[in-house]
Amino acid sequence: MATLFECQNVNKAYGGLSAVKDLTFFVEEGEIYAIAGPNGAGKTTLFDTITGVSPVTSGVIRFDGQEIQRRRPDSICRLGIARTFQTTVAFDTQTVLTNVLVGGMLGREGTGNPSTSFSEAAIEAALDGLEFCDLLHKQGQLASQLTVSERKRLMLATALATQPKLLLLDEPVGGLNRTEREDMLSLVRKVNQAGVTVLLIEHIMKAVQAVAGRLLILHHGEKIAEGPPSQVLRDERVIEVYLGGKHRERQSASDGGG
Ligand SMILES: Nc1ncnc2c1ncn2[C@@H]1O[C@H](COP(=O)(O)OP(=O)(O)O)[C@@H](O)[C@H]1O
Ligand SMILES: [Mg+2]
Repeated sequence: MATLFECQNVNKAYGGLSAVKDLTFFVEEGEIYAIAGPNGAGKTTLFDTITGVSPVTSGVIRFDGQEIQRRRPDSICRLGIARTFQTTVAFDTQTVLTNVLVGGMLGREGTGNPSTSFSEAAIEAALDGLEFCDLLHKQGQLASQLTVSERKRLMLATALATQPKLLLLDEPVGGLNRTEREDMLSLVRKVNQAGVTVLLIEHIMKAVQAVAGRLLILHHGEKIAEGPPSQVLRDERVIEVYLGGKHRERQSASDGGG
């Protein structure tokens, strides 16, 4: 398999805080690659740098043979990278279809003026995205009327409407119940089987093990382990980081505070 995506010595600092430190990894075409790590590890920041929302401090990000670390978000999206967000974002006062159309526009050239019309290709891609995410029957509803699970699928449909080669998912099963979680994971697998490479942030290890071929653990912005999930989850440093977190949670619960 060819390398589709690569981070090389990527650093991201917010003032004096190093959120991502000297991070190097690559993603092969066709794989589902997961990133996990405690809260504040730098996972979302990494997605922000990849998508141009918050440019790297230093380092190289390469996608499909091109350096992208100095490009703008819309340009990166047009190259074939789309993302979803950790919290569900949508235009609440607009319909489900309008949401997907407007979001999907970012990924295409010459869509025209969205305040007057959308191209046929844009409408087709939007409807395909909705159908893929089982939301076609909700297309006329306002986004505000959707359940959390449907809003997560709306974000996914919007990302798919940009027709990405690489899809970045930030905690797609967070806040979902067990059944919804299974459904979302099936959807992630289906997207991948349709030919989309997936980079997935997830801290629910069962979810990671169910879908990902490889797993990277971030801790304080640094890679501390990488490999097949079963192997990484046996790594001593990883166990220490995760058990450490659980230990602290137990401590604060027994202290009666949070
Ligand atoms: N826009 C920002 N400005 C300043 N600091 C930020 C910003 N975004 C994230 N951070 C900080 O960067 C660190 C990593 O955060 P984040 O990437 O959200 O972690 P994770 O997604 O792994 O929970 C945290 O210490 C967070 O407070
Ligand atoms: Mg995050």
